[in-house]
Amino acid sequence: MHKKLQILYHLKLLQWLGTEYMNPLNLESSTLPQLPNDLEKLREIVSQCHLCDLSKTRKNVVFGEGDPHAKLMFVGEGPGATEDETGRPFVGRAGQLLTKMIENVLEIPRSKVYIANIVKCRPPGNRVPTPQEAHTCIPYLWKQIEIINPRIIVALGATSYQYLTGDKTPITKVRGEMIDFQGRILIPTFHPSFLLRNPSKKREVYEDLLKIKELL
Ligand code: URA
Repeated sequence: MHKKLQILYHLKLLQWLGTEYMNPLNLESSTLPQLPNDLEKLREIVSQCHLCDLSKTRKNVVFGEGDPHAKLMFVGEGPGATEDETGRPFVGRAGQLLTKMIENVLEIPRSKVYIANIVKCRPPGNRVPTPQEAHTCIPYLWKQIEIINPRIIVALGATSYQYLTGDKTPITKVRGEMIDFQGRILIPTFHPSFLLRNPSKKREVYEDLLKIKELL
């Protein structure tokens, strides 16, 4: 799967550079572009990305932020309007709720975790990213995960869970489970935006957070 994404990334890059025809790819060669193992270098590359149409409407790329050595990482769906304006993840209303969840329930400063998204650019009108947008962008997230090396990843909402794991089981069925994920623990829970619309679901997320707190 990872190889497929690398090939897609490579082809998109060539298309973007104007290539219309190419010789068959030698998959065993080292010609596939490698993303850097350095978070700041990766940020530079991502900030200039034009591999999908979201780049045409974004104001800012929202790379992610937090402790580069965080043991706990939160992954959302994609930037909203405030995030697009500021270039920072989870700073709008949903972000304020996420910050409270981290600081008041987990009792750790927000700056001690890492927060990123499946797609780094805002989908217009806050629509769900298309599979093509998500698959084009996710190699950046894989690299962030590899570099930061968190022990626990919290998938915020269905889109995050689905693209991280490839599993389409509804979030209501998997919420709160501790899933073995590439040697890490993945915990899906409801997205803070969903909680803003359905405050009665906060109780379940509170329980998930207590599990995370115990793990930490
Ligand atoms: N919703 C998300 O999924 N990500 C953000 O960064 C903000 C809101």
